[in-house]
Order: sequence, then structure tokens, then C-alpha cells
Amino acid sequence: MSVAALVLAAGRGERLGASVPKAFVLLAGKPLLVHSLEALAESVSLDWLVPVVARADLGRFTSLGDSMNAIQGVTKPVVGGDERQDSVRAGLAALPEDVEWVAVHDAARPLVRPEDVERVIAAARSQGAAILATPVRDTIKRVRDGQIQETPPRAECYAAQTPQVFRVELLRKAVEKAAADGYRGTDDAELVERLGISVTVVEGHGSNLKVTDREDLEIAERLLAQRAAGGELR
Ligand code: CTP
Ligand code: MG
Repeated sequence: MSVAALVLAAGRGERLGASVPKAFVLLAGKPLLVHSLEALAESVSLDWLVPVVARADLGRFTSLGDSMNAIQGVTKPVVGGDERQDSVRAGLAALPEDVEWVAVHDAARPLVRPEDVERVIAAARSQGAAILATPVRDTIKRVRDGQIQETPPRAECYAAQTPQVFRVELLRKAVEKAAADGYRGTDDAELVERLGISVTVVEGHGSNLKVTDREDLEIAERLLAQRAAGGELR
């Protein structure tokens, strides 16, 4: 009963606006993708780490060479698609037959803590599907055309992170249904929710931020430095 992580790195990183795609941008001298893979490799529950990269970046991936070979469980890269959901689909199609559970992770979340990866995998194994998420601090407004439509109770609002962990068959079904319906979700859980399946939330840690823009990269640098110094503030 093996567990694989799909490590999504096929985006362009337009909002970050670096000279290389986001997954290859350096954080403390190391590409975001390498940070993410190293963090996941520390999780004993993961058997395979499957990098999903854009076709145009296969050469860049190969150039990582030794740092990649040193990480336990990393497979050959899978070529991703135009949108994140297409990359997930490509990754699922490439998984070996005996993989029963899949953890989808954004390479753009380089600071995920191995203990949180373990907790979300354990929750998925007992409940069928689970994601990391953090309670929001701000009040959330649903807005259309500049007008508030709704204020969901803040205590019920969480910000979704990755990894998001599912039975492989369940996520396959969810992704195929979304494709058949022409539906684009903003995370993987949403596609599973559309099947009427309940997804468990495991409280994650604020340091598992998604590097989206320049400021996030600076925050990630600081968090990493704090960790190296033996403490973590966020
Ligand atoms: N991703 C992917 N394939 C895509 C688009 C995104 O594998 N076609 C991955 C990204 O590499 C990233 C994660 O999904 O690790 C989350 O996406 P996002 O933060 O939006 O990254 P980018 O799409 O690269 O950034 P941007 O939207 O700013 O271009
Ligand atoms: Mg994107």
C-alpha cells in the first residue's frame, strides 16, 4: 500500500516575475522545488516523490542533478499541463499501479513541516481525504462587483494549504468529473467535494506559506533563518 506525493512545479510563476519559473527560484541558495522535495522526503509515510514540471523546464530539472539524486524516493519528472489541474491529472496518470494514496503538494510551499505532512496523511488514511489548512484571522467577505454578498462565520473559515491527501481512485474520479464538466477548481479538495465526499481538515502551520510574490519570498527567507536559529515565530 504505497503513498506517492505529486510535487507540482509546472507553473510559470508570473506573479513572482523572476527570470526563471517559480519552482526553480532560489530560497537561501536552493530552488523552491528542492526545498519542497527535501521536506517531503523527511516524511516516513511517503514512498515516492513525483516532480511534475513543464516540458520547457525538463532541462532545468535535469541540471539539478546531484541535489535531486540525494533525495530519497524522487522519481523521474512527469510533464505537467497548462493549468494546475492539468498538471495534477498528468501526475495521476503517471503513478505506478500499486500506489493507493496520493499527496498533492505545491512546490511553491517550500517550508512545509514533515510532522504536518505525517498528520495529514494519517488523517486521510483514517477518513479517506484530508488537507492541511489554517484558521483565517481576518473576517472573510464574499464579494461580487464590489458589493458584499455574504459574511461566512469566521470560526468556520480556513485557508487551504497543501499537502492534500486522497485515495488515488477518489482523486482520479474527482479530476475526471471536473474535466468532463469543464470545471476549474482552485484546489484539489474542491474537486473531491463536488463528488459529495467529505474532506477532513487538519490544522496546519502558518509557515507553510505559498510563495506567490516577491514579499512571500522574503518572508520565507526570514522563516528559514529563524528555523535554522532554532526557533519559529509564525
Ligand atoms: N502549477 C503546476 N502546473 C500549472 C500551474 C501551476 O504544476 N500549470 C504548480 C506551480 O508550479 C505551483 C503550484 O502549482 O507550485 C501552485 O500554483 P501557483 O502558486 O499559481 O504557481 P504558478 O502558476 O507558477 O504562479 P503564477 O500563477 O503566479 O504564474
Ligand atoms: Mg498559477
